[in-house]
Amino acid sequence: MKSNTIIALALCTAALAIPPDNFGFPTSEDDAQLSVTYQASTVQPGILFGIDVPASQPDIAVNETYAGLNNDYTGQYLLFMVDPDASYPENPQNRFIIHWWQEGLTKSTTEVDSASIGGTRLVNDTAPRVSYRRPRPPTNSSAHRYIQYLFEQPSNFQVPEAYSGYNDQNITRFPFEQFLNDAGLEAPVAANYFYCSNQTAVPATFVAAPGEEYPGGNGAMITQGTNEPTPTGGSSSASSTSTATGAASPATYTGAASTFSSDTTLTSVLLAMGAFLALR
Ligand SMILES: *[C@@H]1O[C@H](CO)[C@@H](O)[C@H](O)[C@H]1NC(C)=O
Ligand SMILES: *[C@@H]1O[C@H](CO)[C@@H](O)[C@H](O)[C@H]1NC(C)=O
Ligand SMILES: *[C@@H]1O[C@H](CO)[C@@H](O)[C@H](O)[C@H]1NC(C)=O
Ligand SMILES: *[C@@H]1O[C@H](CO)[C@@H](O)[C@H](O)[C@H]1NC(C)=O
Ligand SMILES: *[C@@H]1O[C@H](CO)[C@@H](O)[C@H](O)[C@H]1NC(C)=O
Repeated sequence: MKSNTIIALALCTAALAIPPDNFGFPTSEDDAQLSVTYQASTVQPGILFGIDVPASQPDIAVNETYAGLNNDYTGQYLLFMVDPDASYPENPQNRFIIHWWQEGLTKSTTEVDSASIGGTRLVNDTAPRVSYRRPRPPTNSSAHRYIQYLFEQPSNFQVPEAYSGYNDQNITRFPFEQFLNDAGLEAPVAANYFYCSNQTAVPATFVAAPGEEYPGGNGAMITQGTNEPTPTGGSSSASSTSTATGAASPATYTGAASTFSSDTTLTSVLLAMGAFLALR
């Protein structure tokens, strides 16, 4: 009886990789969910927004209840928000756009009040390398995905020289997965994501639950599977970037998350559930 319950719970949990496994991007360790809260909305993984996502940055928080194997988040963290679908999900030649890059985040003592997943706020004591920038898909673009990732920041962390040019003025075609490898970052310790559409049929203030549909349909928005840019084949100056972008496939990131099979995840969830029940 008890073990059936454990397996049922574990199966539910195991299905919730954030972001979904089949996107081909890094997913958070133990499916840990990052708490991302805008004034009016808490981000449920995969929630749909119209274009009016606030221009001021959301609160970022961590909650041990959502952290899988008892991560208490006492270290230093790096936060990224990236858009893999620029300029259009049909052909994301400008993948990735950096929407936020903040190093040196630590857990504060203040809590984020939220209807769903609140947590303890993460705070910075240095300037962001790339300031938060609201989603801005071009006119009539189907929804882009905006993924928020939290990484553990190794002590004495340094951004590799090759990436030192990224800043508020230089945010497009960031080879994110290559960067994660080169910077030696492990699997994200929490993640979240949402959609934002600028299709003309979508009211600016539109909000809908994960899995629902936009007015007028989802168009080219990616709800599962990968979308790779069409190779440009020959534009000279940008060629190294587009090669890097084209090659920024899941295979280039060797962080621990990409090596988890669902079986491993299931096993670790089962172990976690077992440990949890044993403690009660
Ligand atoms: C963490 O999540 C749990 C479960 O949803 C909630 O009860 C708790 O209040 C949250 N913690 C904080 C600090 O918000
Ligand atoms: C922390 O981040 C905010 C918003 O990105 C920024 O305005 C502020 O200057 C940063 N704090 C420090 C101490 O640099
Ligand atoms: C969204 O599309 C409108 C046209 O419908 C355009 O004027 C606007 O600049 C776009 N919004 C953003 C944030 O880019
Ligand atoms: C946006 O797309 C819709 C549906 O394809 C089309 O009817 C409309 O004319 C387009 N609007 C603009 C401004 O391109
Ligand atoms: C953006 O930064 C990258 C990495 O440092 C650099 O290679 C590139 O030349 C920069 N682009 C611009 C337009 O500054």
